[in-house]
Amino acid sequence: MSRSKLSVPTAKLPTFLWGAATAAHQVEGNQRNDWSEWEATVADGLAADAERRLKAKGVPDDAALLALARDPQNYLSADAADHYHRYRQDFDILYDLGCNAYRFSVEWARIEPRPGEYDQRALDHYRDMVRELKKRGITPMITLHHFTNPTWLAAHGGWHGREVVERFAQFSTVVAGYLGPDVTYWCSINEPGSYLLVRYLGGDIWPRWPGGAFRPLDGYRYLRNVVQAHRAARRAIKAANPAAQVGVAHGMVHFELARHDPVSWVMKKLLEYIPDTYLLNRLKHDLDYIGVQYYIRMQVAARLGHPAHWTSYWVGQEPRSHTGWGIYPEGLYHITQRLKRYGLPQIVTENGIADANDLQRAGFIREHIAALDRSRADGADIRGYFYWSLLDNYEWSEGFWPQFGLVAVDRKTQQRTVRPSAKVYAQIIRQHLAASKKRPA
Ligand code: BGC
Repeated sequence: MSRSKLSVPTAKLPTFLWGAATAAHQVEGNQRNDWSEWEATVADGLAADAERRLKAKGVPDDAALLALARDPQNYLSADAADHYHRYRQDFDILYDLGCNAYRFSVEWARIEPRPGEYDQRALDHYRDMVRELKKRGITPMITLHHFTNPTWLAAHGGWHGREVVERFAQFSTVVAGYLGPDVTYWCSINEPGSYLLVRYLGGDIWPRWPGGAFRPLDGYRYLRNVVQAHRAARRAIKAANPAAQVGVAHGMVHFELARHDPVSWVMKKLLEYIPDTYLLNRLKHDLDYIGVQYYIRMQVAARLGHPAHWTSYWVGQEPRSHTGWGIYPEGLYHITQRLKRYGLPQIVTENGIADANDLQRAGFIREHIAALDRSRADGADIRGYFYWSLLDNYEWSEGFWPQFGLVAVDRKTQQRTVRPSAKVYAQIIRQHLAASKKRPA
């Protein structure tokens, strides 16, 4: 397999990455992986349960959203946003918005459809994406694993099995060998904490995930494997490009105590410890930056019943989004301040809002970036911000009804419409870039 030879020279890297993010399964369309197989088995059930579930999540009353959520087709990723074919058009939009970076993931199942067999066309496809981004002066950031797996991986033990580290290392070696010399920014694994919670600890961030169950021992094996898999991927990427910056995309929740009793206190510490302290303490010497993903704050209060229900993500005073999540920009300030202790650069690899009517998004973006500005002024070394998401996409087990896009996508025609809030984001980017030019280097 020949190494990539891009005709596009590596442009000078931007000092602050201003971008938007997507993930392969959510936007590309026509996937054949563990998630696409699972979708087909749960679509009817999720549609039938929609009204109850949306109410329980605190989703605001909205007849149009409910109609989408009641439709079984909503839960099939199908052609998604057809980004696999329309990426050039989507990159033109990114360019027009003034973004200098784009985060996307490569689909393991496309690249390695059978163990040890690599699909040259899939690799060429991702190489072309890199090339098209660079032509537009946009810096690519590649995620190697964003929640989905080749179906054969489960037969080989899945992410808690004995083989995954070696297999992920091989996959990373192939991808990095092919794209590595032309790509500086990499995320090894997306949100290991969410994956752990939903697949192994029976958590209910989303209604269900493939194979989701309460099996803590496998969860422990998963965490152990993630650490090894990240290290192996980073070694492979650095071998292909010693200047590469490799991080993990780390989902962070800002936790607060709703009740000051010892059980709630212990629960909060545990919730902070497992995905945060445990993982980052093990990974901190193998990270060039920490990828910060922030959506929610949670209040913790011990009560009768399953501990999965001891947290709430709407605190009662703040406005909430279409997913029922409270909007709390200050949380991003607290999280980025807390991460200072690792002494590593931080890049916000995801932050966004589901807002089909585009009434809250502009304010959301403005206030979250203002919180970041404050955090930078208070010493956090933040090097980038990626809004989630560039496009309306397939929101995992909620399907298409939550609409996070800077760009609305018509599900029938695939027509793209840039939302007004995207233009506000573009203006914020311009202001920040202009301000940084004025500052002495
Ligand atoms: C995930 C994305 C998802 C977003 C909004 C993040 O945790 O990485 O894939 O779409 O949350 O739900």
